Amino acid sequence: MDATDIVVLGGGPGGYAVALRAATRGQSVTLVESALVGGTCLHWGCISSKALLHVGELLDQVRESGRFGLDLTVNGIDIDGVNAFRDKVQSQLHTGLDALLKARGVDVVPGRGTVADDGRTVLVDSGRRATGRALVVATGSQVRSLPGVDVDGRVVITSDEATRLPRIPRRALVIGAGAVGLEFASLYRSLGAEEVTVVEALDRIAPLEDPDLSRALARAFRKRGITTLAPALVESVKVDGETATVTVATGGDERRFEVDTVLVAVGRAPRTDGIGLDALGVLEQTGHVRVDEWCRTAADGVYAVGDLLAPPALALAHAGFAEGFLVADVIAEVGRGVPVDYEQVPRVTYTAPEVASVGLTEPQAVQAGHEVAVSSYSFRGNAKGIIHGSDGFVKTVVAREGEDRAGGESGQVLGVHVIGPHATDLIAEAQLITSWGALPAEVAQLVHPHPTLAEAVGEAHLAAAGTPFHTH
Ligand code: NAI
Repeated sequence: MDATDIVVLGGGPGGYAVALRAATRGQSVTLVESALVGGTCLHWGCISSKALLHVGELLDQVRESGRFGLDLTVNGIDIDGVNAFRDKVQSQLHTGLDALLKARGVDVVPGRGTVADDGRTVLVDSGRRATGRALVVATGSQVRSLPGVDVDGRVVITSDEATRLPRIPRRALVIGAGAVGLEFASLYRSLGAEEVTVVEALDRIAPLEDPDLSRALARAFRKRGITTLAPALVESVKVDGETATVTVATGGDERRFEVDTVLVAVGRAPRTDGIGLDALGVLEQTGHVRVDEWCRTAADGVYAVGDLLAPPALALAHAGFAEGFLVADVIAEVGRGVPVDYEQVPRVTYTAPEVASVGLTEPQAVQAGHEVAVSSYSFRGNAKGIIHGSDGFVKTVVAREGEDRAGGESGQVLGVHVIGPHATDLIAEAQLITSWGALPAEVAQLVHPHPTLAEAVGEAHLAAAGTPFHTH
């Protein structure tokens, strides 16, 4: 039996963040992983899709090259070459992560682990046992299925297959307009699919985002030739050979689509079945693991991080990193160990155009009892935005009440919402604004470099502070 300070079950972003941080805190760590360290994010999710989306972005730029006075054409897409590019990105990151874990002395044990009844020991199918002072469960999530829709991995697929990009769809129907569905719809169109339709059960696409962002993204998709139907329900999916006939109920009508690809993107479920957690009494009925703000379960010495956590935790790789740091610090009893504030975790969707947000949406702010003022700034008034040829805007949601520290007319910034070029990078500054409870007038004092897209964040807050600059 191997004895160690911490045993981590699962080597995705949550689990490996625990391991790397704990090692720097002087803890010995055993990490049990059944597939590859890096987990879903690195091998079947975030990184794979972002590499593919980058290819899509290049294709769109070539198609629009006439606008820049260039005469470029897409002569073809070598799908093996595209997949090789994605593999290269992943393998570089995977090799780096492997080396980092080794350099920090983390004992990575390959194999499928289950938790023994003592809540301290992981039994690995290779026969090894690892016992720790503390156990961290980080087994992640898996794609959720849709009752009545059989995933055959060929015509009807999930993100597991989609990130492998077996072929380029000509006609695709995507079920679910969350991040996965929207990103693949965007990708398929960029790769040249003639027909892309997104079906969303709720009343708008990107339903977790501010409604203005949902509307703007639906409009941008329409301009790109992507159809979005919301609210709409898939009634049946029938596969015949290489074609699926999908019946969709929307707005009192029934519509039929003949497609070669149906992507089921209706969320992910916690991967907590059959790994010994029932006996510990740490599971919710949904299969999520219940934890307190320190990621401690009800079982003494057992912690959990990552996608398997129940809401308000977010199934996002960067939330998993933050939970991992927290747990490692709590176990090692060092560092400041601040609980993760999920409201302040940025949300990013890599569609064209990109969507990103942090803090409260306008309706959430109102529901929380705030009187709010909103300001927005269009990328059409921003030099870099014009160079990029992008639409989109930065919207800031500001509380009207509250102390006025900086001479502005309003209170604290509660949320920032961006749709447009590099929104997923721009949100990093917005995160500082909302997390530190900045006032618009304080943000307005910050000098943004010119010309940059980031100026749009500054401009939205200049307007919110009552001192608009390049705004009519
Ligand atoms: P999701 O839960 O974010 O979205 C699924 C969508 O499907 C929801 O809008 C839901 O209303 C809709 N839906 C459910 N059942 C439906 C039905 N029968 N018909 C039509 N629509 C239906 O899940 P998603 O997009 O699969 O992503 C899984 C997780 O991975 C999420 O936590 C997501 O945030 C995360 N993720 C994050 C990314 C990023 O940060 N860029 C990229 C991809 C995924």
